[in-house]
Order: sequence, then C-alpha cells, then structure tokens
Amino acid sequence: MNDAQPAVEIRHLVKDFKTSFRRKPLRAVDDVSIRIMPGEVYGLIGPNGSGKSTTMKALLGLVAPSSGECAIFGKDSMKVDSRNEVGFLPENPYFYKHLSGEETLKFYGKLCGIRGSKLRDRVKELLELVDLENARYRRIGGYSKGMLQRIGLAQALIQEPRLVILDEPTAGVDPVGSREIRDLIFKLRERGITVFLCSHLLEQVQEVCDHVGIIFKGKMVKEGRLEDLIAIEDQTELVLKNASPDLVSEIETMIAKDSRAELVRSGKPRTTLERLFLRETQNREDTK
Ligand SMILES: Nc1ncnc2c1ncn2[C@@H]1O[C@H](COP(=O)(O)OP(=O)(O)OP(=O)(O)O)[C@@H](O)[C@H]1O
Ligand SMILES: [Mg+2]
Repeated sequence: MNDAQPAVEIRHLVKDFKTSFRRKPLRAVDDVSIRIMPGEVYGLIGPNGSGKSTTMKALLGLVAPSSGECAIFGKDSMKVDSRNEVGFLPENPYFYKHLSGEETLKFYGKLCGIRGSKLRDRVKELLELVDLENARYRRIGGYSKGMLQRIGLAQALIQEPRLVILDEPTAGVDPVGSREIRDLIFKLRERGITVFLCSHLLEQVQEVCDHVGIIFKGKMVKEGRLEDLIAIEDQTELVLKNASPDLVSEIETMIAKDSRAELVRSGKPRTTLERLFLRETQNREDTK
C-alpha cells in the first residue's frame, strides 16, 4: 500500500458556469475525482470542451469549484500556499512581446521570489533545458509557436516545482518540436517531478503517461494505469526478427495443434505514422 501524500487530489469536483443566454448553468465538470501520486505522469484526454482545462484551473485555484474540493500536496487549492510547489503552462500562454526569452524567465523568477545569482543560474539552466540559449536575447514577439511553448515550459519550471501542470504542451507544435517537448517531460519524470497534462496527441500521451483519465462531457468515463487500460488481456504478442518462413510455418502448425489457442494475426508489425514522419523528415535533414 502506498500511504504517501498524493501530489494531486481532486474529489467530486463539479463546476457550473453561468451563461447569459440560458438560465440553466453549463456543467463543465461533473463529479470528477483524480488522485495523482508523487512521481506519476498523468494524462487527461477528452474531446474539445469536455472540461480538461476547467479541471486544471480548479486544481490551481483559478476557478472556484461549485462543489467538491481540490488539493495539491495536501493543501487546499483555494488557499494561496497550495501554489508554492506547482508550475503551470496554460492553454494559451501570454507573454510580454517586447521582452526577450531571458527577460521573460527573469521576470517570472522574480515573481516567485528568486533573485541574484540564483536567478541567473536558474534562467541559464532552463534556457539550456528547453534549447533556447541561442534565442535568449530575441524578443518573444518573434518566437515561433514551438519556441513559445518551450519558453512557457521553462516559465512553469522556474521555481523548481514538485508538480507541473501542462495544458496542451504541444498545441500547434510540429512533430519534431512535440517530440522535444515529450523528451522534456521524460526528463521531468526522471527527476521525480509529478506531471499532470492534457493533450489531444494520443500517441504522445501513450508514450509519456503512466496513468490516463478519459473525460467526456465533464464526466470521467475511464481511468487507470495506462498499461492496464490498453492491454488486451487474452492475447500474447510475439515479434520475431530474421525468422525464416519455415520457422513461422512451424510455429503456426504448433498453434493449430492447440485446442484453445487461436492465431489472430500474423504479418509485419507496423510503425506509427508519427515515427514514419519523424524518420523520413530527419533522414532528409541529415542529407541536406
Ligand atoms: N469561463 C467560462 N465561462 C463559461 N463557460 C466556460 C468557461 N470556461 C469554460 N467554459 C465551458 O466549459 C466547458 C469545458 O471547457 P474546457 O475549456 O474545460 O474544455 P477542454 O476540455 O479544455 O476543451 P479543449 O480541448 O477545447 O481545450 C466548455 O463548454 C466551455 O465552453
Ligand atoms: Mg482546454
């Protein structure tokens, strides 16, 4: 049993929004409960408008729950001190366009109370981590979407949070850029930082997350460990390399002799479209 304190605890969260057009309020989040233990990477997936961002904002204390409660490392989200150990990348991060990348990080660092050489070192470390050292003096106004997301990630990490909340970290970013962001999330996981993210890139969620929740029209419809959710319990997969046709037919004969086992599929395993895209575009970059 794991009795450590959860990094995230959302209990029976309900959020209604008043609408000016209708009397009936809009229920954006409907009885959602999520528990994330320290070190886990949790992915919340669901169609547009299903309540992902609202859930994250309630957890951050940016919107008040209509009912239910949220806590970060045991501290109620509506209390300011719950935010000490959390970094947040919002859905549409807004930065001052006239500031450079470096100035932006310094600005956020100062807001978090970091000063002097500690701030300088931290900013340098983060610019390296998100691969923006070369663009450190450029104005944010000239940054591409991918660069903006990366500076947003660096901003979320400035005060060395134990929990990072990322609302669509790869939105609008090309496959190479999203893979870099994915690698960054791997690095966070290696450092034991808890990550709570939502994304529409299911392939990536599958790669980085160990726990997944599927939310639909404000309701949690499926939740659990990724491995358990996607395993097809009654099947076994064998992937052979350099197997001769004789060996394959011998295996197939053995399976045919078994009264219960059934060969469902045999053939070449497929790569994913994402991997194919990355392989092809990278090969081309190398030969340019
Ligand atoms: N401040 C608000 N006022 C009124 N309605 C809101 C507000 N914020 C969100 N909503 C509504 O709540 C519902 C859930 O929105 P939310 O932004 O949480 O969805 P989402 O899952 O993040 O969607 P997306 O994938 O498009 O980002 C939507 O119907 C949205 O219109
Ligand atoms: Mg959203």
